[in-house]
Amino acid sequence: MSIIKIKDVVKRYGSKIPVDHLSLKIEEGEIFGLLGPNGAGKSTMIKMICGLIKIDSGSIHVNRLGVHEVPMETKKLIGLVPQDLAIYDNLTAKENLNFFARLYGLRGTLLKDRVNEALEFVGLTDKQNDKPDTFSGGMKRRLNIACGIMHHPKVVIMDEPTVGIDPQSRNHILDAVRTLNKLGSTVIYTSHYMEEVEAISSRVGIMDHGRLIALGTRQELVSQMGQEEKIVIEAQFIHPQVIEELEQHIGIQDVRVSNETTVDILLKSSQTYLQDILFIFAKHEVAIRTLSRIEPNLESLFLTLTGRTLRD
Ligand SMILES: Nc1ncnc2c1ncn2[C@@H]1O[C@H](COP(=O)(O)OP(=O)(O)O)[C@@H](O)[C@H]1O
Ligand SMILES: [Mg+2]
Repeated sequence: MSIIKIKDVVKRYGSKIPVDHLSLKIEEGEIFGLLGPNGAGKSTMIKMICGLIKIDSGSIHVNRLGVHEVPMETKKLIGLVPQDLAIYDNLTAKENLNFFARLYGLRGTLLKDRVNEALEFVGLTDKQNDKPDTFSGGMKRRLNIACGIMHHPKVVIMDEPTVGIDPQSRNHILDAVRTLNKLGSTVIYTSHYMEEVEAISSRVGIMDHGRLIALGTRQELVSQMGQEEKIVIEAQFIHPQVIEELEQHIGIQDVRVSNETTVDILLKSSQTYLQDILFIFAKHEVAIRTLSRIEPNLESLFLTLTGRTLRD
């Protein structure tokens, strides 16, 4: 079942169109990675799903309820961990959690239990009586996450939860995403770090200029490129006959000479035909210096689709 249905959504700010006719369904139980460079429109899309800003046209449904028709109902189903930290520096970690727990309507022992559970979950039990201004960036992020999940939401949305934090906190957060998912939450996670999204998402959407330019599992996206993998060979020199024979090979899609001694061989499928490639070089007595196999990734897909890197 689709837990979120986004249909032809448009958002304008003056002449800017941060979200431009975007349609997308998020399936219940998945970890959906929304990938895109800065300014792609990810946060704007997230804010609309959460009912925090209006949409200009189109519709968004969460669990079959219209976000802009019954916002109070849909907000209860979502736990948002916003990109900009939403915690109070003058309250302790625990006081922050108590505050947000009350906003979610939690009271009494249930509130206490959920606050303790959230502290435990993000590894801040020891720091519960400290104020966030003594925390590292990663600890603040973790507290921010704890604040968004105490009501056990059906959907957890994390907007760039790993920007500017130490590797240890990053791993902690990625584990938390997996755990929340195992416990039954659908997770939407935005990032401009493709390695992360590739590592944890069951499905990925790539956004650029307010549009969804690619959608699927990592494997589907990579095979959409029609490029399974690449072999890069650095040799003594690049013999024209070698190039010609490589180009004629049935398993090879394209051969690109990048300089006098290096050739990129794009393969058609995951079968590498390594023996054949080595044989062609040997036949013409061209010594190979190095050989590397490069698996395609979402970064290269983005580059293929837009001609730019994700970090541009
Ligand atoms: N409140 C706003 N007013 C005007 N422009 C905005 C506003 N919010 C976002 N934008 C613009 O919309 C575009 C998308 O922004 P955003 O959704 O934050 O992208 P991302 O989260 O992918 O980095 C950017 O060009 C940004 O400047
Ligand atoms: Mg953003």
